[in-house]
Amino acid sequence: MTIIEQGRELDPEQLMAFVFRAVGEVGATLNTALVVMGDRLGLYRALAGAGPLTPGELAERTGVSERYVREWLNAQAAGDFVEYDPDTARYTLPPEQAVALTDESSPAYLPGFFQIALGSVLDSPRIIEAAKTGAGIGWHDHVSDVHEGCERFFRPGYNANLVTSWLPALEGVVEKLTRGASVADVGCGHGASTVLMAQAFPNSTFVGSDYHDASIAIARQRADEAGVSDRVRFEVAPATSYTGEKYDLVTMFDCLHDMGDPIGAARHVLASVAQDGTWLIVEPAAGDRVEDNLNPVSRAYYAFSTLLCTPSSLAQEVGLALGAQAGEARIRNVVTSAGFGKFRRAAETPFNLVFEARP
Ligand SMILES: C[S@@+](CC[C@H](N)C(=O)[O-])C[C@H]1O[C@@H](n2cnc3c(N)ncnc32)[C@H](O)[C@@H]1O
Repeated sequence: MTIIEQGRELDPEQLMAFVFRAVGEVGATLNTALVVMGDRLGLYRALAGAGPLTPGELAERTGVSERYVREWLNAQAAGDFVEYDPDTARYTLPPEQAVALTDESSPAYLPGFFQIALGSVLDSPRIIEAAKTGAGIGWHDHVSDVHEGCERFFRPGYNANLVTSWLPALEGVVEKLTRGASVADVGCGHGASTVLMAQAFPNSTFVGSDYHDASIAIARQRADEAGVSDRVRFEVAPATSYTGEKYDLVTMFDCLHDMGDPIGAARHVLASVAQDGTWLIVEPAAGDRVEDNLNPVSRAYYAFSTLLCTPSSLAQEVGLALGAQAGEARIRNVVTSAGFGKFRRAAETPFNLVFEARP
């Protein structure tokens, strides 16, 4: 029997259990590509509410090759994404999976999550190289699945929480927004949060900013499509130098930890927010200690952090690299180091921490 360094005997049963767990992990990794495939080819949408279908029927409805559809369906059935009836050789998308995989208005909508995961994995060979030297890879330097997946991943959570619970958790902010306030949405990406707030508060004006020019171009399109361009302006600018002053509200959604110089960004927020204004910071849910974060949600966040967030920060000046699991204590430290007098956790979900900072 082999003795490993820690002095514990190797347990062959535990070894095989780990190997079989790994088989599940490899299947799940590959299924990320299959979910994006099903989303992009309209396979889930054609299955949703259609009742039991044969591969031929699904192929006909989607215009996809029957042989590919059959293989894809079998992988989906083996992973419990669809149900297979051996008596009829038909496949059904259960209602819960139909909502999670096709209903963009549901907070449970998942395709964006898989899309950003696929984009992160596609770019991972470059991360492996960067890790050897500690170099960074900027957010702008990723495949578009990362940017579009991010928008599609976060939007359902913003739809479910931002207007109904996160903004109301801040002192006096909804009243100001209803009357008419000025808002800077910093690191806004494709502008999902900016457009949503603009739709909810028609008397307020919004400036969305992000250092990534291609994201800002899409944010402008989104505002046009939503009919809010008259009150929403977007600019290409890093968080340390976006324009405007005396904002009633500055927001940062899931981006403070991606920045190279979050303390510099926090100083710029302090300089640009009104004396009685508010800074809303939304960050991934995390405890302060590693041992608080050894769970499935944090596992996904640590992985995104390794492949996206940490390299993003390291690619910028200062390169503080907070990581996507920074936790409340480190965020508080960033905010108070910049000179903010008040900081508190205002709300939370299983996926997010929501902080309020005030001068
Ligand atoms: C995870 S994405 C979140 C995007 C958007 N807030 C959302 O919730 O969909 C992080 C964003 O931070 C932006 N970002 C990173 N560093 C930045 C910086 N120093 N200044 C401004 N934006 C930055 C990236 O370009 C990216 O759009």
